[in-house]
Amino acid sequence: MFPEHRPRRLRGTAALRRLVSETTLRPRQLILPLFVAEGAESPRPISSMPGVVQHTRDSLRKAAVEAVRAGVGGLMVFGVPKQRDAIGSGATDEHGILNVALRDLRAELGDETVLMADTCLDEFTDHGHCGVLDATGAVDNDATLDRYAEMALAQAEAGAHLLGPSGMMDGQVGVIRQALDEAGRTDVGILAYSAKYASAFYGPFREAVDSQLKGDRKTYQQDPGNAREALREVELDIAEGADVVMVKPALSYLDVIRQVADAAGVPVAAYNISGEYAMVEAAVANGWLDRQRTVLEVLTSIRRAGADMILTYWAAEAAGWLD
Ligand code: PBG
Repeated sequence: MFPEHRPRRLRGTAALRRLVSETTLRPRQLILPLFVAEGAESPRPISSMPGVVQHTRDSLRKAAVEAVRAGVGGLMVFGVPKQRDAIGSGATDEHGILNVALRDLRAELGDETVLMADTCLDEFTDHGHCGVLDATGAVDNDATLDRYAEMALAQAEAGAHLLGPSGMMDGQVGVIRQALDEAGRTDVGILAYSAKYASAFYGPFREAVDSQLKGDRKTYQQDPGNAREALREVELDIAEGADVVMVKPALSYLDVIRQVADAAGVPVAAYNISGEYAMVEAAVANGWLDRQRTVLEVLTSIRRAGADMILTYWAAEAAGWLD
């Protein structure tokens, strides 16, 4: 008898396929990134991310509550300030838009969700870099660490449960952990952007936060060709106190997610970033892809690669489909 082996047998009915399905995708595994713009009077569309907006404080609150009701596992908040300066003062100001928004959301949602904050200066600097610059115009690693420590304390104070240092400065997790501990905030955790690549796929995000960046981030973010280096970054971040480690972007780095998931003794997150969102939405708008099937396949593939949780702009909507 040939064929002797018939894997198709287990694909014969929906019930059989469900029984042998290897990868789960649940709402609680999805984290919704949200943008909030200082002084905005109505939500502002982001043209390269159809369906995503820069929120007002009010619309942010509503979107957050809706997402939590839909079952998402957490929220990651990014601030878009009105004014920027060389050191990103708005990031550490308790009246800065991100800190104000975190306070709003913590007051609204308490511990019902996991509230996360982008702990990075790029949205707040007038040069758009993730850190402060030295006299030559280069990003000054150690001077930036002082700013991150300050920013972390402001965000903890504002009510974030998890801080997301995304600037790829050496030692960022360590200084933030130390600052939190010294302030008695041992309860606040760190979701470290550990393996973050210098990616072309961040393009739409730069529009989303009105980024002032000219040039690139190649002196701090990783070269897309390097995988071993990602494992070293992860190892360092865990040693410095990271509670969760993240790989970013996701789709072009599924192999890195797999390697990190195999090596790390902590939960692994992946960021399904703006360009990945834009790519699918553009194809869908052209009628070239089925939206729901494509989105669920993308998210399932990131889970299959080993991510425990996924930051995705589709989080609330996908949570609704999965329910
Ligand atoms: C830095 C930061 C970026 C993203 C998240 N945090 C931009 C960058 O590094 O240039 C990108 C997220 C996305 O593209 O969806 N604060």
